[in-house]
Formats: sequence, structure tokens, C-alpha cells
Amino acid sequence: MQNLHVSTSHPYDVVIEKGLLDRAGDWIVRLRPNARIAVITDSNVAPLYLERVILSLTHAGVGRERVAHFIFPAGEQSKSMETLSRVYAFLAASKISRSDLVIALGGGVTGDLTGYAAATWLRGTDFVQIPTTLLAQIDSSVGGKTGIDLPQGKNLVGAFHQPRLVLIDPDTLSTLTAEIFADGMAEAVKYAAAFDGALFERLEKESLRAFLEQLITRCVDIKRLVVQEDEFDKGGRMLLNFGHTLGHSVERLSEYQISHGSAVAIGMVLITRAAEKKGLCKPGTASRIEALLISLGLPVSCEYTPGQLASAAVGDKKTSGATLTLALLRELGEGFLHPIEAQSLLEFIQ
Ligand SMILES: NC(=O)c1ccc[n+]([C@@H]2O[C@H](COP(=O)([O-])OP(=O)(O)OC[C@H]3O[C@@H](n4cnc5c(N)ncnc54)[C@H](O)[C@@H]3O)[C@@H](O)[C@H]2O)c1
Ligand SMILES: [Zn+2]
Repeated sequence: MQNLHVSTSHPYDVVIEKGLLDRAGDWIVRLRPNARIAVITDSNVAPLYLERVILSLTHAGVGRERVAHFIFPAGEQSKSMETLSRVYAFLAASKISRSDLVIALGGGVTGDLTGYAAATWLRGTDFVQIPTTLLAQIDSSVGGKTGIDLPQGKNLVGAFHQPRLVLIDPDTLSTLTAEIFADGMAEAVKYAAAFDGALFERLEKESLRAFLEQLITRCVDIKRLVVQEDEFDKGGRMLLNFGHTLGHSVERLSEYQISHGSAVAIGMVLITRAAEKKGLCKPGTASRIEALLISLGLPVSCEYTPGQLASAAVGDKKTSGATLTLALLRELGEGFLHPIEAQSLLEFIQ
């Protein structure tokens, strides 16, 4: 078992252990012995894991009448005002008070939606993350960013609301499709490339199966350190955007037909190749990232022109004024921030 402590304004533990799902109840009861529990999950995760979480709660002594659950249709389209309203109605019907607990059981969509519902329910109710995708385990469940999408754009409404506890069971990843697992691996490659050269080498050489739990732990540890330095995303967290500036362009240009992980994979290769050409990055770095991503089943190129990518990026919310801060690599394991004029992005990537 690994237990990482996140020292944000509301500190919390991230527990990582195989089979943890069946012991989730013990941790939750320890956190809040007499609380009512509202579990929120999606239609894919519910048949796989909901009953196990509820059983672990009853085994830990939570009466069945104190546990309620809500299942919404799986998919990004549920990260919406409509689903949020339905979650509020569920919390009201379940009589969830500020001393009770909300649990997010699922991927990043469930975590973001549930976290935002918890952040706003009665002006702030505590919640626990039980992430079940690789992306949610190594990225979205830690750091306290919650929110929903609007028709006008993704993640436009949200709040910083740290969870009270994060319970990660790596065994839950065994039921992911290869595509969704690979999507999460793009973020793991991002952490390794920008923060940990030794981890990058391990990913190049070793079979993932042998060290998946260690990989999750190391990625969570990196995210923890970055978030502790910059809880409210004022600057330092930008290094976590390695591959994301052009990645977001690819996602947008494809009208979200290309998944986030695939888009970030393409973005990491494109931006690193450009940085190499400018003499900002050690030669050969982009090729190594490319080879690793291919071995993980991720794409490394797209049909969009530099002009299309640059104009899609300049409309990105990550631009502030006329400056665009790029996350680049000096070499593998050493990311740095490189501010440029937004207008010169095209020249940078051409
Ligand atoms: N809050 C943050 O800091 C942060 C960071 C990165 C991404 N995100 C958000 O996360 C979301 C993407 O997360 P995601 O990729 O986990 O998406 P997701 O929650 O939609 O999960 C992907 C798919 O996997 C299914 N699934 C989940 N767990 C499963 C399991 N164990 N076995 C089988 N199927 C399972 C889901 O039902 C869904 O169909 C986006 O909305 C993104 O904006 C948030
Ligand atoms: Zn990402």
C-alpha cells in the first residue's frame, strides 16, 4: 500500500493499493463515521464496481439506509448542466447534509461532475474520489479541479474543491478498453517526459504490467508536488500542460473525435520537434517520445497544418493576453516554461 499526503489548503491522503475497492468502506467510515453516503457513478462503471463499493460500506458498518447512489449515462456529454441538476435533485432526495459525504466512483467525467456538485451543494460538501480510469487515477482525481462543460466550451464552469480522500485501486484498470487505457498512458508519458527521466527510461524498457502500481504512485506523487506549489493554477501547474497547447488544438479541430490522450500524444511530439529545431531541446528527444508513444498504441501525427493548429491554439483559454506560455523539454525529465508572443506560435511550430 502507498499513502501519499497532499498538503493543500485542505490536506488529504491518496491511498494506492490493489484490491482497495473492497476496503473502501473502512477508509470512508474512518473519515466520517456517522455520515450518509451518496455514491455517484456512470452507466459503465456501475455494473462493474458499484455493488462492491456499497458492500464494503455495509461491511464497515454503514447501514444500507445510509447509502444512496446515482447513475448517469457514461460519456463526456454527461458533464453538463442537465446532469448536474439531476445530481442536485438526487442529493436533495437523499437528504445529504454538509456533514455527509459524496463519493465519485468512475473516470474523470464522474470525478469532475461529482466534485463540482459537492463543491456547490450547500456551499460545499466533502467528497471522496474513487477513480477507475488511468487518467483519473494519475491526473484528474488529485488537485481539486472540478467542473462541467457548457455548449460554449469544455470546463467553462468549475471550482477548486479538494477531495477529502482519494482511493486508487489499480485492479479496476483491468476492465478498461485498450483505447481508454492508452489515453491515460499519454498523461503518464507527459509526467515522465517533463519531470522524471528515469521513469521515461523505465517506460521504454520494461513491461508496464510489471510496474503499473509504481507508475501510478510516481505520477500521483508528481501531480501532488506540483499542486502543492500551485494549488490555484497561477503558474507552476503550467508544466503539466506539456503537449496540451497543440493537443487542445487537435481535439478542437477534430471536433473531439480525436481523444484527449491521443491529441496530447500528438501535441508532445509536435512541440518537442519544434523546440529541437529552435535549439531549445536536446536533439533526439522528440524521436524517443514518438517511439514510446507508438509502442503504447498512441498516434504521433495528424492531418492538420501548422497554421490550423496555431490558430486553434491562440483561441485557447491557456493564453493570457498576448503571451502564450509553452511547456517544453530541455531534455527528457526536464520540463521548463517558455513564454512566447501568441502571434509567433505559428512561426515556432512551422
Ligand atoms: N480535474 C482535472 O484536473 C482533470 C484533469 C484531466 C482531465 N479531466 C477531465 O477528465 C475527463 C476525462 O476522463 P476519463 O478519460 O477518465 O473519461 P471518462 O470518465 O468518460 O471515462 C472514460 C470511459 O471509461 C469508462 N470507465 C471508467 N472506468 C472504467 C473501468 N474501470 N472499466 C471500464 N470502463 C470504465 C467510462 O464509463 C467512460 O466510458 C474529461 O472530462 C476531462 O476534462 C479533469
Ligand atoms: Zn491532459
